Amino acid sequence: AFALAGPRDLAGRHVVVSAGGTREPLDPVRFLGNRSSGRQGVALARVAAARGARVTLVAANLAVPPPAGVDVVPVETAAQLRDAVRAAAKDADVVVMAAAVADYRPASVQGAKIKKRADRSAPAIELVENVDVLAELAGERLREGQLVVGFAAETGDDDGSVLEHGRAKALRKGADLLVVNAVGEGRGFGTDVNEVVVLDGAGQVVATAGGTKDDVAGTVWDAVRDRW
Ligand code: CTP
Ligand code: CA
Repeated sequence: AFALAGPRDLAGRHVVVSAGGTREPLDPVRFLGNRSSGRQGVALARVAAARGARVTLVAANLAVPPPAGVDVVPVETAAQLRDAVRAAAKDADVVVMAAAVADYRPASVQGAKIKKRADRSAPAIELVENVDVLAELAGERLREGQLVVGFAAETGDDDGSVLEHGRAKALRKGADLLVVNAVGEGRGFGTDVNEVVVLDGAGQVVATAGGTKDDVAGTVWDAVRDRW
């Protein structure tokens, strides 16, 4: 008997979830990072496992513990995350990119700690672009029929609303689903409550969810299941 009664509608599926935020080293003691806790990705992994899936969680610097019963692959950098996700994706029915992946990394990593300068000048950090893992997965499809799902945190600005930015990103990424999270204006960050819109690859709304990160995870897996 199962402790939690509920649908086992992901049984027989292998799902890969990336979660957390990457760290890009500058020297042995410093990195460029972001504030992602990994809570949404961990919720996705936990809910998928509860619904019967085999789960691989590619975990970048999580601030919360991973759920029991999932395979955890720890990574630090965007390059390590890319390698780990691609390795797991060869055998996956769906890849969900919930991680906050650094767009850029320092062009070079110093082998020794960078010292403060005696002449009081400030160093400049040169950056180079990281591979867009989501767009690459969507373009390649490492396994036939594999679904690829992205996440995007958006604020509205002078160039468009949350939904307009989300639609443009959905078209640009080529993923099957893009989960757009409205942040700012008292939503998203630092709260346990999210408000999301799920778009398909053409930018059409296929679902909306408000509530906890577990509620959002449930809505995402429903949308994935409906595509299978
Ligand atoms: N992503 C990725 N690889 C990167 C950057 C982002 O796979 N190098 C993925 C994220 O995991 C997320 C999706 O792309 O699923 C959207 O990330 P986001 O930062 O919103 O998109 P960008 O295209 O980087 O756009 P911007 O940062 O300018 O909003
Ligand atoms: Ca980005």
